[in-house]
Amino acid sequence: MSDQPDVELEARLAEQEEFEPPESFVEQANVTDEGIYEEFDENWPDAWERAAELLDWEEDWNQVLDDSNEPFYEWFVDGKLNASENCLDRHLDDRGDEVAIEWIGEPVDETRTYTYSELHREVNEFAAALREQGVGEDDVVTMYMPMIPELPIAMLACARIGAPHSVVFAGFSADALAERMESADSETLVTCDGYYRRGEALDHLDKAREGLDNVGHDVTTVVVDRLGDERTVDHRGSELDYDALVDEQDGAEVEPVTRDAEDMLFLMYTSGTTGKPKGVKHTTGGYLSYAAWTSHAVLDIKPEDTYWCSADIGWITGHSYIVYGPLALGTTTVMYEGTPDYPDKDRMWQIVDDYDVNQLYTAPTAIRAFMKWGEKYPEQHDLSSLRLLGTVGEPINPRAWKWYYKYIGNEECPVVDTWWQTETGGMMITTLPGVKKMKPGSAGPPLPGVSADIVDTNGDPVEAGRAGHLVVNKPWPGMLRTLYKNDERFINEYWDEYSVPDRDQWVYFPEDGAKIDDDGYITVLGRVDDVINVSGHRLGTMEIESAIVGVEGVAEAAVVGGDHEMKGEAVYAYVITEDGQEENEEFRQEIIEAVEDAIGPIARPEAVVFTHELPKTRSGKIMRRLLEDIANGDELGNTSTLRNPDVVHEIEQKVQGD
Ligand code: WT7
Repeated sequence: MSDQPDVELEARLAEQEEFEPPESFVEQANVTDEGIYEEFDENWPDAWERAAELLDWEEDWNQVLDDSNEPFYEWFVDGKLNASENCLDRHLDDRGDEVAIEWIGEPVDETRTYTYSELHREVNEFAAALREQGVGEDDVVTMYMPMIPELPIAMLACARIGAPHSVVFAGFSADALAERMESADSETLVTCDGYYRRGEALDHLDKAREGLDNVGHDVTTVVVDRLGDERTVDHRGSELDYDALVDEQDGAEVEPVTRDAEDMLFLMYTSGTTGKPKGVKHTTGGYLSYAAWTSHAVLDIKPEDTYWCSADIGWITGHSYIVYGPLALGTTTVMYEGTPDYPDKDRMWQIVDDYDVNQLYTAPTAIRAFMKWGEKYPEQHDLSSLRLLGTVGEPINPRAWKWYYKYIGNEECPVVDTWWQTETGGMMITTLPGVKKMKPGSAGPPLPGVSADIVDTNGDPVEAGRAGHLVVNKPWPGMLRTLYKNDERFINEYWDEYSVPDRDQWVYFPEDGAKIDDDGYITVLGRVDDVINVSGHRLGTMEIESAIVGVEGVAEAAVVGGDHEMKGEAVYAYVITEDGQEENEEFRQEIIEAVEDAIGPIARPEAVVFTHELPKTRSGKIMRRLLEDIANGDELGNTSTLRNPDVVHEIEQKVQGD
């Protein structure tokens, strides 16, 4: 490749709105028959058996879908299986010596390789250790861990003994950990001493301990020694050393527990409109089938591939597409501990080159960073092993899409822009890479068997090109089954909106705005609720607001998402102080720290703007759209319904003055 950007090529790319799947890709793709869409339509829901058939079942299902108690759908009814069995044991005969996990530490040259046999052994030993500690079927085990191999090992160990896991992202705060453990009544925690970030060893255990101080019940804590330092385990306390526990179980084997298809595999907390995070419940049969099927059909994973998803396992993307989907298919999944810019901005391309990575699945926020750093970094490496590229988490603009396609994929890899959510368990809207043309900026049509529409506020489909609300009209195997111990909130949050009596079906409402074109391609525009998407991570404005109003001296706060070049969206906080409270830099820092303590550094406000009033409607509702416009510096729309229109201009001036 030359150093000079190819001007002619750039110009052609800038114009091009549609891209056919590359011939070389189609020739070898897992799914190439366009008829699959029709087949799913005609044979729905039975066509979903094709997903379940990717797994090994101890007992077959008697019914594909039970919709007798909507919206509490059940999939593969009466089927029995174990997820850890499906991700490990069944591969041992043919692929026992093949690599399951390639773990790459942040420090250069620190790597660990687990073959399927080795991973099986580790999982069995830790499963035995958990049992010994009294963890039984259906006990929720929390993991508060960064990207170290013991995280997927612990997840699979839980799956093996039928204990649902609840993984809390390591970047979340102590308070966030406590809240999730309390909500799930979780009595076991697996955590570690620390991890590396850009060359620095960060403490993690103190944060975990601080969280545990706020948990009202007893907790057994297992600590992994990641940093190899002395202070790992507090021997006076109730902390247990991971290595010691596992050593005691040397060579132990644990028979995988037979689970019902509908038994909970895991819980994952995510942010919603109201204050408390929601415990999304995923099941063993439907979720695992869906993760495996989409890994096969969309990511085109084959057992002999080396596949890399650069997400963190602390989010749903990592659950479905680092752990469960790839391992169910018996492939090699890469797990990277660090950041893309350490030790240098070519780290990811170094990894692709070194490991001959075949598929790369990452986020638009990362692609925007790569673009900004420039093509000289990927150009230092041989990326020709790549066959497919994917993105997830937020809309990708056509310019970033094309940059990814050209400079990473060398115009030879399809790019799948996959829309989905924590709640959907797996991908819902994206092109089938071996079948459909791609349109940069648009995720694509719903996958076969998935039925989505864009509707207006009456629930009627809108015309092509018009914005509306995205809805999913039919259930799918990977869907959440409920919110943990809160069926009522499950119905209210996702199903109420358009499930009006004269319509004969329940409709799932993902809280996203979108539009559709004449080919049925969907462009997702962003959230329509009070959720902010920072670098592909979902944050609830209400959660941030409640942290801010908890600060002494704050009377009221409103938080909105404003556009941000790298992060997609950033957090903007408007704060009214109490009389006598000084509005200075120190107080601003105090507010920022309160947010970091309540949620984590990802929720750190980009700006804290002090104001003496917030724009409200006559009925007293905060006009968030207006605050967003101010954050974005957009022309302000109609403010005539405001109680006090002057306040808007006052805030505007403050923002500009900042
Ligand atoms: C929200 C879900 C899916 C795993 C990562 C995020 C946004 C996700 C796309 C996409 C446009 C997207 C939506 C969605 N989103 N993928 N390809 N194009 N927007 O999971 O934290 O549950 O967030 O992320 O707004 O509702 P999550």
